[in-house]
Amino acid sequence: MQTNLQPQPISPFHVAIIMDGNGRWAENQGLPRPVGHQAGARAVRAVVRTAVEQGVTALSLYAFSSYNWRRPEEEVAGLMALLRHFLTIDVRDLRAHGIRISVLGRRDRLPLALAKAIAVAERSTARNTGLHLRIAIDYSSRDAILAAAQQAPDLSPEALATRLGTGDVDLVIRTGGDRRLSDFLLWECAYAELFFTDVKWPDFTPAHFTAALGDFAKRTRSFGGLMESA
Ligand code: FPP
Repeated sequence: MQTNLQPQPISPFHVAIIMDGNGRWAENQGLPRPVGHQAGARAVRAVVRTAVEQGVTALSLYAFSSYNWRRPEEEVAGLMALLRHFLTIDVRDLRAHGIRISVLGRRDRLPLALAKAIAVAERSTARNTGLHLRIAIDYSSRDAILAAAQQAPDLSPEALATRLGTGDVDLVIRTGGDRRLSDFLLWECAYAELFFTDVKWPDFTPAHFTAALGDFAKRTRSFGGLMESA
């Protein structure tokens, strides 16, 4: 049971980001949608750096949902290649900065080269104690909850949470103008603060991210209880 009724400190905490708007960003400029995802990957790099600077302890990024398989084959292939590049090339820099990488979601439908890159990235950063970067690929929160419920030794909230292994989210940021969770970390977001912005993901800068963290810091979280009077 949550007993801490004090306002939460700005850090350490867990931020989850739904990175939406890549496709529209590209289309608005007359560019193919995969170019929007490439620009999105650049935004990821900048936001990860800012997360480290701001003392965020865990950052969960929604990179590919289980529903995204419905997209055109070329777009899916481009995304898979981007993710593989990130997990093989960028990971060297992330490792040097003490970042630990985990990937959420199904592995059995991913291209073999990506599945292997994930395994190497996770293994080679497992002992790092800095920012925990979680990337959701072929991820559905409903599927994750169902799988955890089937595997948990008992059906207590604690056993389920342990099985899910992701930890409670403090702040969800969604870019791109929509205001929904889209099957991302539903259990973990039970008491998350929500921050929505119309800014499309490729245009989301460290300054936008820092402003969202500042907005979070001003919120008062009672977790269903009452705030203690001053
Ligand atoms: C949603 O935008 C975004 C995605 C489906 C892909 C997110 C991937 C990246 C940001 C790049 C790679 C990630 C990492 C971690 C290196 P959308 O295409 O649905 O945009 P739209 O709503 O404008 O169509």
